[in-house]
Amino acid sequence: MKLFHAPASPFVRKVMVLLHEAGTTDRVTLVPASGTPLNPGTLPVDRNPLGKIPALERPDGPTLYDSRVITRYLDDLLHAGLYPAAPRLWDTLVIEATADGIAEAAVLMRYEMHVRPEASRSPAWVEAQWGKIARALAALEERWMSHLSGPPDMGQIAVACALGYLDFRHADRTWRAEHPALAAWHAAFDARPALQATAPTA
Ligand code: BEZ
Repeated sequence: MKLFHAPASPFVRKVMVLLHEAGTTDRVTLVPASGTPLNPGTLPVDRNPLGKIPALERPDGPTLYDSRVITRYLDDLLHAGLYPAAPRLWDTLVIEATADGIAEAAVLMRYEMHVRPEASRSPAWVEAQWGKIARALAALEERWMSHLSGPPDMGQIAVACALGYLDFRHADRTWRAEHPALAAWHAAFDARPALQATAPTA
């Protein structure tokens, strides 16, 4: 299988963490892909019409995207056990969706500040994206710490990848002071070998 990959993407990282947790990184070949909303570059637009990564090319079926489809597929294929049975599954999926929303808003902020031409950038739009992130961080801190402290699952992995991206691209936003329980959880979860092996790079 081929995984279209960029080392900075928090969505690609979710897939890579799953592979490391399952002990099977040799099942996929990484294909570097890069581009922006203004220029698709080497993004696999022929396999994913949305031109987004990760995308997983399979020998026996259509290319899979987005990250949540890929992680469900690989979890099933590799018996990784990172999606628990219902009813706990519903919590895992909401946490994963919340984390992916944080990552998506953070990536859009990055594009706005570094890809959009300077004259058309909107600081108010950037702050509105941060507002979404702040609400999602508060929800994790207030509602989901007990789940996050349970057995490892894709909800936790997605949160760790989203927080890692905030630290990587938005280190000026000091989220830890307002979310001490989430900060303590992240410090411990981020020490897992699968997280250490997949830290974002430019
Ligand atoms: C980044 O460089 O921040 C980035 C690269 C690929 C996907 C998302 C973010």
